[in-house]
Amino acid sequence: MIEMIPLFRLFSVMDHYRRYFSSNIDQNINANRALNHSTIQFGSAISTISEMSRYTVLVATIVLCALKKISLGDVVLYQSLFSFSLDGLGRIMNILPNLEMGLEAMNSIYSVLGLEDTGETKITSHLTDGELKFEGVHFTYPGSESKALSGVDCRIRSGEHVVIIGKNGSGKSTLARLLLGFFAPDRGRITINGVLSTDAGSEAIATKIAYVSQRSIIFRDSLLENIRLRDEQISREQALKAAEQCNLARLISRLSLGLDEPISPLSLSGGETQCVAIARALARPLKTLLLDEITSNLDLISKKMVFNTLRNLHGSCTIVTITHDMELLTLADRVLVMDEGKLHESNLNSVVSG
Ligand SMILES: Nc1ncnc2c1ncn2[C@@H]1O[C@H](COP(=O)(O)OP(=O)(O)OP(=O)(O)O)[C@@H](O)[C@H]1O
Ligand SMILES: [Mg+2]
Repeated sequence: MIEMIPLFRLFSVMDHYRRYFSSNIDQNINANRALNHSTIQFGSAISTISEMSRYTVLVATIVLCALKKISLGDVVLYQSLFSFSLDGLGRIMNILPNLEMGLEAMNSIYSVLGLEDTGETKITSHLTDGELKFEGVHFTYPGSESKALSGVDCRIRSGEHVVIIGKNGSGKSTLARLLLGFFAPDRGRITINGVLSTDAGSEAIATKIAYVSQRSIIFRDSLLENIRLRDEQISREQALKAAEQCNLARLISRLSLGLDEPISPLSLSGGETQCVAIARALARPLKTLLLDEITSNLDLISKKMVFNTLRNLHGSCTIVTITHDMELLTLADRVLVMDEGKLHESNLNSVVSG
């Protein structure tokens, strides 16, 4: 669930999902608190009773042995059997800390979800379709020893299609996360149409940059709402058009309720999941598209359809494509290569030829 929070922010639907999860978590916390109290009370009572009964059994068996009703061996046997039973009970009671841990985990999730976006100024009007600029950007992930970005300088003009390639772990997705305002650069500045990404805030940026992350997420909701993400401004027709552009028409015709069919992360294939994530971005009014490795699970037909859609969008919006797929390079106005946290301009022909 924590992983989904940036996604909710991205698509400006944090409030809807905050309300959704808040009510559920409130109920769960109350239920768990009640359970916790009664379990603790029950546990104390059980401990007292078990200790008392242990002594009672010990005294009773010793008395019976003294009266020669049972042997000394029987005393040991009864004691062992009784201790064995009490151990079992003790193990059951050991579940208590786990219950408490669960409660704590829920509390921490609740506290993260409850976080207000303090310090984030909601600047949306200035973020319209403009250039994206990275100036001397350095970044190290909290707790990490090595830099993920070490001095990125780059300017992406409005309407340009820039493709970023580079080795695994070279910093491509990190660049996207910083552009979206998930993290602030340690040094340097990132501006969107002249506005600092840190001033704009991730929710405001999300209204201008439609992002498809490397890891697509599907919610337990209808296919339609997985595309709209409960954004009332996106019509059913827009969602359907975006789905069709991503080769989801066949899937929709197969589902008995079509777009309204409830889906879950387990009910779609990897490629279908990726297509839904791309449709989610395409359904939104486009200013800038930020696409991180979107074709990795697509079959040839789906890839061709997404490819054609991107080609048709050329010039009408800014597109930043992060990819390992050489075919997408042919759509690029410019190819940039990320290498150990640094971004270099590259000659398209030299990259394609080898
Ligand atoms: N949340 C994180 N915490 C700490 N280090 C991270 C985190 N995410 C990524 N890194 C590290 O930052 C570096 C850059 O990662 P990034 O995800 O940007 O690479 P990438 O170029 O997108 O790679 P790939 O092509 O495999 O997707 C890597 O060394 C990675 O291990
Ligand atoms: Mg990546």
